[in-house]
Amino acid sequence: MSKAYNIAVIPGDGTGPEVIAEGIKVIKAVSQKYGFKIDLKYFNFGGEHYLETGEALPSGAVEELKKHDAIYLGAIGHPDVKPGVLEKGILLRLRFELDQYINLRPVKLYPGVECPLKDKGPEHIDFVVVRENTEGLYAGAGGVLKKGTPDEVAVQESINTRKGVERCVRYAFEYCKKRNKANKLTLCGKTNVLTFAFDLWERTFYEVAKEYPDIKADYAHVDAITMWFIKNPEWFDVIVTDNMFGDIITDLGAMIQGGMGIAAGGNINPQGVSMFEPIGGSAPKYKGRNTINPLAAICAGGMLLEHLDEAEAGKCVERAVMQVTANHIKSLAAGQMGYTTTEVGDLVVKYIIE
Ligand code: IPM
Ligand code: MN
Repeated sequence: MSKAYNIAVIPGDGTGPEVIAEGIKVIKAVSQKYGFKIDLKYFNFGGEHYLETGEALPSGAVEELKKHDAIYLGAIGHPDVKPGVLEKGILLRLRFELDQYINLRPVKLYPGVECPLKDKGPEHIDFVVVRENTEGLYAGAGGVLKKGTPDEVAVQESINTRKGVERCVRYAFEYCKKRNKANKLTLCGKTNVLTFAFDLWERTFYEVAKEYPDIKADYAHVDAITMWFIKNPEWFDVIVTDNMFGDIITDLGAMIQGGMGIAAGGNINPQGVSMFEPIGGSAPKYKGRNTINPLAAICAGGMLLEHLDEAEAGKCVERAVMQVTANHIKSLAAGQMGYTTTEVGDLVVKYIIE
């Protein structure tokens, strides 16, 4: 009997449904080729649902999602909803409650994709950021006093636990070993100023490093990393960092790989349910026009399959995407691809089935 996977699909807001539809098209095609079944269940969480019901996630939603093998998410964010409500109420809540403690962000320049860096090509840009995804400044610790007065005090604390740091660092070493490319793991921190939090990170990192003698353990300050992403991206293989620094450097990473049209990520709980998403957001101004680039969502679908132990199928999706970037797409930007959203999905499928 062939394997079957239950996938929860949250198309979400803006262009989310359009790009997810292309991703599903691709997942279906590749599942036929590799002989596994997928069962999809759609969830309408997002801005519209919030505006209708006043709740970001209905009660029981998390329990329901837990019954699936993986979650495929389009985008969250609605122009009529105050910033922060949906991000915290849906995306961050799912990351926390499903304990998706890793945010995995491959930064890879595909052939044919225009790179904003002079003299850099696909041979220079191919690294992965392992971002801690449940702690740090995102933990929600802190508070406000005397709000709205001249004496207002706002405190937002970065929470770093030994357990949280260690599981993230261990994941990164394992990932680096499995990837087996340059076998180099760089801790991105700020040990010269954040001497409590990054002391914990640094000690944990070098302790765990002893168990991985074949991996070169390296360190760089976050500000220096932003320079080197631009000047020497080829120095990096795998990078591990905290939640906030990871948020920032992965957007910079997305730009050097060609932009939001191609950048995908995974929110991973290695022992639980993981969630895969294009990182570009809901792009409301392109909603319903069939012009948005679905490749990031398609790549997220490929990551989802790799995570489900369908590594060959996942790699096949990536190869097909690379054929499309190399041979077809003019630009990754919405409306400038030379193809519609649905045509790009069809092209990827064509390379999968041929
Ligand atoms: C990301 C996003 C989120 C984050 C937002 C939407 C809450 O920017 O996935 O990087 O800050 O983590
Ligand atoms: Mn971000």
